[in-house]
Amino acid sequence: MEPIRFETFSKMEQEERLSILRRECLLTEEECGIIESADSLAINKADKMIESVVGRFALPLGIATGVCVNGKHYYVPMVTEEPSLVSACSRGAEYANVMGGFSASYSGSLMISQIELTGVAQPEKAKELIVAEKKKIAEICNQKDPILLQAGGGVRDVEVRVMHSAIGILLVVHLIVDVKDVIGANLLNGMAEEVSPFLESISGGRASMRILSNLADRRIVTATAVFEKETIGGAEVVERIVEAYAFANADPYRATTNNKGIMNGIVPVAIATGNDTRAIEAAAHVYACRSGQCRPLAKYEKTSSGDLKGMIEMPMPVATVGGTIKLHPAVRVNQKIMGITSAGELAQVMASMGLSLNLIATRSLVTGGIQRAHMLNHARSVAASVGAEGEAFERIVSQMVRENNIHTEYAEKLLKQML
Ligand code: MEV
Repeated sequence: MEPIRFETFSKMEQEERLSILRRECLLTEEECGIIESADSLAINKADKMIESVVGRFALPLGIATGVCVNGKHYYVPMVTEEPSLVSACSRGAEYANVMGGFSASYSGSLMISQIELTGVAQPEKAKELIVAEKKKIAEICNQKDPILLQAGGGVRDVEVRVMHSAIGILLVVHLIVDVKDVIGANLLNGMAEEVSPFLESISGGRASMRILSNLADRRIVTATAVFEKETIGGAEVVERIVEAYAFANADPYRATTNNKGIMNGIVPVAIATGNDTRAIEAAAHVYACRSGQCRPLAKYEKTSSGDLKGMIEMPMPVATVGGTIKLHPAVRVNQKIMGITSAGELAQVMASMGLSLNLIATRSLVTGGIQRAHMLNHARSVAASVGAEGEAFERIVSQMVRENNIHTEYAEKLLKQML
């Protein structure tokens, strides 16, 4: 099936877009109703998700089209308040499609759960004793979650670090756990607590902090794409994107903004699929600093044929089962729209979205500047904010862009004139 072009999809009316999804993703009437409705999350369910609930809060759900990862086409749901992100992800993906789309890989879902042991009299000796008991430690932890074990997950290894701190020597035990398709926070924390008495007994120390690490550096995703030079604007644009990468690689002030742009492609998908955006952000930003300086998560180079090769590598702690995913009806529909079957598959699509967005943002910055690219979307938000609709909306948007005068007061004035 040929994926629908963003140009076509974005110009359709909302109902028409939804009917395309209904047909192509085999959504039922009920499922269409769930994503269309601002209150698909019932208030009694919302009340159980967090504390002191008074209501719900709606945001737009858009669909990035044309995303092709490892030969499979995806409609990608994005929940965001920021204009331009859905179009940037779709356009970046369409550029990549000219040379076959994204090739992505996933390391597997290994997470770390930490147990901090204080007051250990003989740390090196204790380390040896703990390492010698790896099998027993894994057994204690694994019995905490038989379902994970059945799914092929569980403790894969135990590592021990002797660390110097302001309060003296610490022994830090890492449980390396394959969490498969769940995010794993509860199970990782539970394992750390369960095994602590045993670790205390062999180390002679006291188990203090017992919690997962959000530095998910063993849950790594990569995505690569080649962007044909003519497609992205020619040899000069290729050179300038490579130069922009060099700037971001040299300067943490630029790298931080660059990586914020990458997260623009990733966080909206995380929200749409019920994932923990803070965990993804925390891991991504620290991973970007692993050399001791914040550097870009995506790199670019010119290929021997003069095209542009983009590569992204980052942690992607995401899940397709458990947590909010079970509770929020729109999350289930969004998963169906994407057609994803595992956390690894979701991670690979999300990394590709990050690379897409970064390519488009960088291309805008090195060509006309980001303001020009944002102007149309900004004008649309301003026209909508004053209540313009239909033909008046389109006319106000084009006039504001044409005159480079995109302000609420001006939009109000134009609307009054048209009424
Ligand atoms: C804006 O939300 C994101 C950008 O600043 C990213 C970038 O500078 O690469 C445009």
